[in-house]
Amino acid sequence: MARLLVTGGAGFIGSNFAHFVVNHTDHTVIVLDKLTYAGNRASLAGLPDDRVQFVHGDISNGQLVDDLMSSADAVVHYAAESHNDNSLDDPRPFLRTNLVGTFTLLEAARRHGTRFHHISTDEVYGDLKLGDPHRFTEETPYNPSSPYSATKAGSDLLVRAWVRSFGVPATISNCSNNYGPYQHVEKFIPRQITNVLRGLRPKLYGQGRNVRDWIHADDHSSAVLAILDSGRIGETYLIGADGEKDNKTVVELILTIMGQPADAYDHVTDRAGHDLRYAINPSKLREELGWQPRYRDFEDGLTATIAWYQDNEEWWAPTKDATEAFYARLGQ
Ligand code: NAD
Ligand code: DAU
Repeated sequence: MARLLVTGGAGFIGSNFAHFVVNHTDHTVIVLDKLTYAGNRASLAGLPDDRVQFVHGDISNGQLVDDLMSSADAVVHYAAESHNDNSLDDPRPFLRTNLVGTFTLLEAARRHGTRFHHISTDEVYGDLKLGDPHRFTEETPYNPSSPYSATKAGSDLLVRAWVRSFGVPATISNCSNNYGPYQHVEKFIPRQITNVLRGLRPKLYGQGRNVRDWIHADDHSSAVLAILDSGRIGETYLIGADGEKDNKTVVELILTIMGQPADAYDHVTDRAGHDLRYAINPSKLREELGWQPRYRDFEDGLTATIAWYQDNEEWWAPTKDATEAFYARLGQ
């Protein structure tokens, strides 16, 4: 049994991780979260108080981070500004949280010798061409495209430097696009589901040829636990579940599952610098740590996710209007 400090645990993937830890381990969790527009305490509702403690605060607050780190066995660092479209609109919070915040946590981990796991993204590798037989591996050179992915790449490099120079016992994982419950309606899949539920048409950037490699958030969580248990210090592990789909296919699938005509969506202004394709080769994680995804059928996982948004309107409705107003300003 371990005491895990989970930063960003009121966000999408961090809250799914907290639920997963409670349901599948005997670890306890301290969530540290600033509750930005993307954080929601309701995502932790129902978790037992004796297993999950919530602390409201900023990962850039050195004193607070130091206090919390002194009682933790390991840190799992999810907190970030996470949305590409926001980073194109205003990059500043991305530099503060993703770079200065990660630096603050690393310094505390260095002082306390705390095991550190850094959650990162496949976007640090840039993008691939459509039809390219290659997928990203741990050896792919970094080539980020957006302010968001550039700050995540920078945070990965900080972690590597703190391992090598200061001996911080850290690992890194770079995961592909997650889907599942508790995802903010700004993101592609929940935006389209909640548009249909609101009687609005889904919005596809450009022609929708861009490919993302989808993985269920629970499979991300099980992979992170495997790395915490048996990952080698200083190593990077790519997390993916062979889930490549182009955006047009995903939007048409959502519409079909929700009983609408498959072409009832709008094409809108494309994202600046829009990465064409992400694809993960997860061989290292599978062969070295024996990890396997549980969600192998995207349509099944998507159907369950749609049902979750249908059943939990009180969770997403308070953020929907502001999100659509933001996109309307961008013409998206
Ligand atoms: P999210 O935006 O849903 O959640 C981020 C959480 O971090 C929120 O609860 C927010 O309140 C909190 N936070 C932000 N700034 C903070 C600060 N300064 N101090 C404390 N808390 C702060 O993001 P997500 O989609 O759950 O992503 C979580 C992590 O996973 C990020 O590091 C992201 O880069 C990474 N990741 C995401 C995906 C994906 O598909 N969403 C894929 C791979 C990796
Ligand atoms: O690959 C991992 C990354 O996945 C994470 O690092 C990021 O935190 C996470 O946000 C996600 O980034 P993307 O930019 O790929 O996700 P997003 O949900 O914003 O968009 C997915 C695809 O859908 C992308 O090609 C843009 C497109 N899109 C998005 C929105 C919001 C649309 O076509 N229409 C939309 O309305």
